[in-house]
Amino acid sequence: MSRIAYVNGQYVPHARAAVHIEDRGYQFADAIYEVCEIKEGYIIDMGPHLDRLDRSLHELRITAPMARMPLIRILREVANLNRVRNGLVYIQISRGVAAREHYFPSKPVRASIVVTAKRIDPRTLEAKADNGIKVISVPENRWERVDIKTVGLLPNVLAKQAAREAGATEAWFVDNSGMVTEGGSTNAWILTKDNRLVTRQADCGILRGITREGVLQVAQKRQIIVEERSFSIREAQEAVEAFVTSASALVMPVVEIDKVLIGDGRPGHLSRELRKEFHERAERTKL
Ligand code: PDD
Repeated sequence: MSRIAYVNGQYVPHARAAVHIEDRGYQFADAIYEVCEIKEGYIIDMGPHLDRLDRSLHELRITAPMARMPLIRILREVANLNRVRNGLVYIQISRGVAAREHYFPSKPVRASIVVTAKRIDPRTLEAKADNGIKVISVPENRWERVDIKTVGLLPNVLAKQAAREAGATEAWFVDNSGMVTEGGSTNAWILTKDNRLVTRQADCGILRGITREGVLQVAQKRQIIVEERSFSIREAQEAVEAFVTSASALVMPVVEIDKVLIGDGRPGHLSRELRKEFHERAERTKL
């Protein structure tokens, strides 16, 4: 079966899905995106993801190319056309196509929108979670508005590639004061020896992850003490557990940071429980 993408009003074969060479997303990374998990035929936490999409558009002063209801119809359509029951749906919106000039287009142009969906075998992801992942640290070198989910991800790409080349999966950015901000494509968490769940406060220095919000809800329900504050690599290495969260990795245990084993080097108990319980509170939208 061939894959189908939605591009600016049309459903097209994936191989021929393209945007114009003067699309500002292509030329300036003047674009934002969202990624939602699809699980067993439901889009997970679609509302909060679309709220964040609206916020990202607002922060960059890009006018949404359509209202929310037609967008939801397209998300469903793309997932269904590609027969995705488990996987991800991806939305990207750029400021549009205009002659290359850094200023916003003087005559307003319509924002470009692309929606794709892909299948992921849940067993592959579960196998990864059973082993846990390794993390390396890298210096924070991104701009100071990473709370906006833009496609300007070059530092993230380089950090994750460095992780891969070091035999790890994720890279944690460490800011000037020696504190972890977040991962290349995930939020970072630790569980301290005195059972406090710690994740960086959601200011402009991290993306306010939707999975992060979900885990905070589960933690609250379980009456786990949560501290939204920054932590160092050293503190993380001394923690009893560590994990990362994102719509694509969900709750993913971390077993090693900069070559130091976390706990006994196996996925932690709480990390595995949070992974199991994450979907119990999730908002589910049927495809
Ligand atoms: N990444 N931080 C960064 C830098 C991210 O790119 C992501 C998501 C997150 C977690 O956000 P959420 O829980 O809402 O997925 C944190 C997506 C999945 C990606 O780029 O593929």
